[in-house]
Amino acid sequence: MSEHSRRVAVVTGATSGIGLAVARLLAQQGHQVFIGARNAENVASTVKLLRNEGLDVEGAPLDVRSPESTEEFVRAAAARFGAVDVLVNNAGRSGGGVTADIDDDLWDDVIETNLNSVFRMTRAVLNTGRMRAKDHGRIINIASTAGKQGVVLGAPYSASKHGVVGFTKALGNELAPTGITVNAVCPGYVETPMAQRVRQGYAAAYDTTEETILDRFTAKIPLGRYSTPEEVAGLVGYLASDTAASITAQALNVCGGLGNF
Ligand SMILES: NC(=O)c1ccc[n+]([C@@H]2O[C@H](COP(=O)([O-])OP(=O)(O)OC[C@H]3O[C@@H](n4cnc5c(N)ncnc54)[C@H](OP(=O)(O)O)[C@@H]3O)[C@@H](O)[C@H]2O)c1
Repeated sequence: MSEHSRRVAVVTGATSGIGLAVARLLAQQGHQVFIGARNAENVASTVKLLRNEGLDVEGAPLDVRSPESTEEFVRAAAARFGAVDVLVNNAGRSGGGVTADIDDDLWDDVIETNLNSVFRMTRAVLNTGRMRAKDHGRIINIASTAGKQGVVLGAPYSASKHGVVGFTKALGNELAPTGITVNAVCPGYVETPMAQRVRQGYAAAYDTTEETILDRFTAKIPLGRYSTPEEVAGLVGYLASDTAASITAQALNVCGGLGNF
């Protein structure tokens, strides 16, 4: 039995990319994992996939932009598995363009999806998910190296992820005496469906091919390649462990050296 046996983890955006790798690893570590994303079919098929691997996973549809959906989701997680020990705020979207041409709808949706959701989901897990009553907890926010440095044509995304890093540091300090740690994991370039969409966006913006964009991005990474979702999940799994009790209010990169700050 692992040290985590029967601990309950909630992972948002767990039907793809980093979230899926995180849900799988936390379940392999012995957590009971409750997952959510907007597409209900993908939630059901991901639950089935992970259960077929022998993992204790359940899930429900979730739109992190909606306060009602967020409350309902956390209520369902707590009803299914009990009080929440680990929250991974992973759901997110890319988004940007020439800043002078960005309309309110795009700006608002990126901030809503990537930043406001992190506050609301965290509050719901602390209260409805009863983490607040525990003397142990883990809140892990998937931010980005774009939460530490500006990304050209990515102003809303960069702003949202800087916000996540700031929220993490403030809440980490606030909750430090309680035994609940709060940290951000900052991936650089990670090969996922989102990364593919990002390359398509830049190829269109610079009127070039996705292969050229891939070469340009890869050339910026000292390691010489994108990180994998599993490499990001590995740090999340460590932060969720008992050994990580003294790591809080940090923003830690998994980026092949892209950021070193
Ligand atoms: N890939 C990278 O290079 C990279 C780098 C740095 C940071 N990140 C961050 O890592 C996180 C995961 O990225 P990824 O690359 O794994 O993305 P991805 O492959 O596009 O997966 C995103 C997941 O989030 C869900 N999602 C999106 N909007 C949602 C919403 N409003 N409510 C609930 N779930 C939602 C998606 O499912 P539905 O569409 O069905 O909702 C999906 O499960 C994001 O926060 C991203 O900003 C990624």
